[in-house]
Amino acid sequence: MIHPVIMAGGTGSRLWPLSRQLNPKQFLRLTDSRLSMLQMTVARLEGLDSAEPLLICNEEHRFLAAEQMRQSGHEETRIILEPCGRNTAPAIALAAIQLVRDLPEDADDPLMLVLAADHLIQDVEAFQQGIHKAVPLAEQGKLVTFGIVPSHPETGYGYIHRGKELAPEAHTVDRFVEKPDQETAQGYLDSGDYLWNSGMFLFGARRYLAELEKHRPDILAICQAASDDAAQDLHFIRINADIFADCPEDSVDYAVMEKTSNAAVISLDAGWSDIGSWSALWEVNEKDSQGNSFTGDVIAQDTANTLVRADSRLVATVGVENLVIIETKDALLVAHKDKVQDVKKVVETIRSDG
Ligand code: GDD
Ligand code: MG
Repeated sequence: MIHPVIMAGGTGSRLWPLSRQLNPKQFLRLTDSRLSMLQMTVARLEGLDSAEPLLICNEEHRFLAAEQMRQSGHEETRIILEPCGRNTAPAIALAAIQLVRDLPEDADDPLMLVLAADHLIQDVEAFQQGIHKAVPLAEQGKLVTFGIVPSHPETGYGYIHRGKELAPEAHTVDRFVEKPDQETAQGYLDSGDYLWNSGMFLFGARRYLAELEKHRPDILAICQAASDDAAQDLHFIRINADIFADCPEDSVDYAVMEKTSNAAVISLDAGWSDIGSWSALWEVNEKDSQGNSFTGDVIAQDTANTLVRADSRLVATVGVENLVIIETKDALLVAHKDKVQDVKKVVETIRSDG
């Protein structure tokens, strides 16, 4: 039995103006007209031998998260509420602490399947097969990650150098490098020896806490204290805000995966993508013969390779290409498709202007 842990605490600022502080991307219907990214993550678990998912997100999204889980038929889901975001190493620690909390000492280490709430996976069967392959390795104490064959020198991902074969499609991890620079990423791509880290993991909760103790005992100590002082309120677990405020910020990738000698990777070919930016959404969307992807009321003349999302008004384009146009009630984004990573700078400007 595995325990899905869904991390839903990101801000999704590169998907502004649709993704907002109070309604970030994991709660939006981006690639499906019925289900949010979170609900798609939950739906993908159907048929696996798994426990009720455990969700971990920011306190300010508690009603949104609970309502979406309820709509997905999971009103029993426990939701850990972080008073502030400290990135994924602490988030996973808080979840691991909950999972082992009431277990007898001699119980097996509960396996946690750590998932991001904002990925798209087109081949659910292949995803579930990958998890089945990972289970025996995680039971042996490995920290298993799922690797994707890279298609371009993306600098926003982690890269995994595969080591010796453990089983078909399963290897040890020789090296894990989080977010290399462009030149390094290009070298990894050219070598053919590296996989992208998908950002999904399977490992024992106690195993993870032991690794964190070894590499970041400061983070573990604060997460433990903040959980010991948590308040339980129906299905919400409220982490102690005063204690957690002092937690250092770090991702699981830097804090544990780069440092551990205990990692394994399962190669996954499941149509995985991280919908990190508007161009990533354009990539996965269905397009017309000119390469356009339109949602809502759109009239286009002589327009190519463009993503338009019209939520509240008619949007018309004439003689343009490679644009992203996102229209919402109170804000309009017009960006070149190659520059969409910089949308987060717009959000930073808005925030700093108060
Ligand atoms: N609960 C909680 N708290 N969730 C968080 C927090 C937090 O403080 N910070 C991020 N998350 C959630 C995000 O919502 C997302 O679902 C997931 O954790 C991963 O965080 P990202 O911020 O999106 O990470 P990333 O994309 O920069 O990098 C990770 O994913 C890549 C693949 O998409 C890394 O694991 C990379 O190595 C990987 O290649
Ligand atoms: Mg991401």
